[in-house]
Amino acid sequence: QTLWGIGGAAVATVGGLSLLSNLRSHAGPSASAVQSSFKLPERLKGTRKGAETVYDLQLQTGTSNFLEGLKTETIGINQPYLGPLLEMQSGERVKLNVHNTLDETATLHWHGFHLPARFDGNPHQAIAPGETWSAQFVVRQRGGLYWYHSHAHKRSGPQVYRGLAGPIYVRDEESDALDLPSEYGVTDLPLIVQDRAFQRDGQLIYGTSMHTLMMGMLGDTLLVNGAIDPVFEYTTDLLRLRLLNGSNARIYRFSFNDGRSMRQIASDGGLLAAPVPLTDIILSPGERAEILVDLSNGQPAQLVAHPVQNSMMGGRMMRGRMGNRQMRGSGPEFPVLSLLPAPTRRSAEPVPEKLLQLPRPNPAAAVRTRRFVMNMPMGMMGGGFTINGKTMDMNRIDERVKLDTSEIWQIENTSMMAHPFHIHDVQFRILDRNGRPPSAAESGLKDTVLVAPGETVRLLLAFSDYSDPNTPYMYHCHILEHEDAGMMGQFTVEA
Ligand code: C2O
Ligand code: CU
Ligand code: CU
Repeated sequence: QTLWGIGGAAVATVGGLSLLSNLRSHAGPSASAVQSSFKLPERLKGTRKGAETVYDLQLQTGTSNFLEGLKTETIGINQPYLGPLLEMQSGERVKLNVHNTLDETATLHWHGFHLPARFDGNPHQAIAPGETWSAQFVVRQRGGLYWYHSHAHKRSGPQVYRGLAGPIYVRDEESDALDLPSEYGVTDLPLIVQDRAFQRDGQLIYGTSMHTLMMGMLGDTLLVNGAIDPVFEYTTDLLRLRLLNGSNARIYRFSFNDGRSMRQIASDGGLLAAPVPLTDIILSPGERAEILVDLSNGQPAQLVAHPVQNSMMGGRMMRGRMGNRQMRGSGPEFPVLSLLPAPTRRSAEPVPEKLLQLPRPNPAAAVRTRRFVMNMPMGMMGGGFTINGKTMDMNRIDERVKLDTSEIWQIENTSMMAHPFHIHDVQFRILDRNGRPPSAAESGLKDTVLVAPGETVRLLLAFSDYSDPNTPYMYHCHILEHEDAGMMGQFTVEA
């Protein structure tokens, strides 16, 4: 096996990022790597029953084979690791039955979805071992890449790490009408990117040290849909890659090894106004981006992920530089996807110049501004993880918002690390970062936003359709170890 895969795993939990640099000095990530073929998530379209489309999901344990000749105990949904691609049509009524065969309480949360709080799949909808929980709602999302994952109380980190997550494609007529690559597994690929650490015997390492708690769980091996260093043979000139950072804690800067540019066409909540040309794209845990890659030169190409150092302790920091996306990664890059040309290829349709026009965000419509200060106060061994000075309490509603209103949420980061701030139930718009307007790539619909140390980001949110004074939604840091440690709050939408 490769040094990259398992060589440094024993010390991986001691210091993910610095370890990577050490590994690099011994052997490059691809020097001795064994490549695998691309793993396309299986599709689950659901079964039509009356007016509903029904999906049956089972949380189960299993055995996976990530490393040559080694078995890894994992958990998944209808399969040993991760879950199938759920395909949904905007406007349709869906029912998701989640049966828990694990020996621990779990949940499934529909990340990015606007739905009634009692179907959110957050810690209040815990599924005990042996039980089945059903979520029923109308799909109100725009076409795009969403995902589902465990949101168990204080256990999201270890459960997602072992495999409780999966992708969702929502389709809508407006997006389908555009001539974008959409042949699943041929011109349209989902890429679930997750770093993991393995013991020598192949079992997953989930760190419990203070360092892991502070930095979040960082691995030294990258899995893409559960495969290491995958290769895909392309048969068209234009490929649509749907990227999901499904890692517990790691932030990546994605780029092509030959520096070729790509075009971002979608963010968390669907298509952008127009394709945005870029050479680098940064995604923090929970965030998604869809990109188009031009392969008309017929050459091999490799998408790589550079780990972004997330700490003030490392010296150079990214303060204030998030807005224009000039953050530098540190350490070597992880291979994400190697693209090889097939002997014969089809040429592609031209990329539309305009995608989906969203209304210009109107901050004047907001009835109030709420402040959310993310902090990691030191004191007490390693400190706490707080939002507005509080850690998560299931029995406390932190914010009560009014149905059919808009608000500005001002997220401030006074800690020493960057945090991806995620809000349930809504797709929001970014108004500004430290007073500066967002880039074109950040001007679409978002549900997760990375906030750098010292940064203030203002969001515009609208609360509609669903209210329930007794059942909360969550907002939290999407570094799962921070979330589990209490960097999370609850809000209700009330009529
Ligand atoms: Cu993706 Cu509250 O989570
Ligand atoms: Cu969510
Ligand atoms: Cu955090």
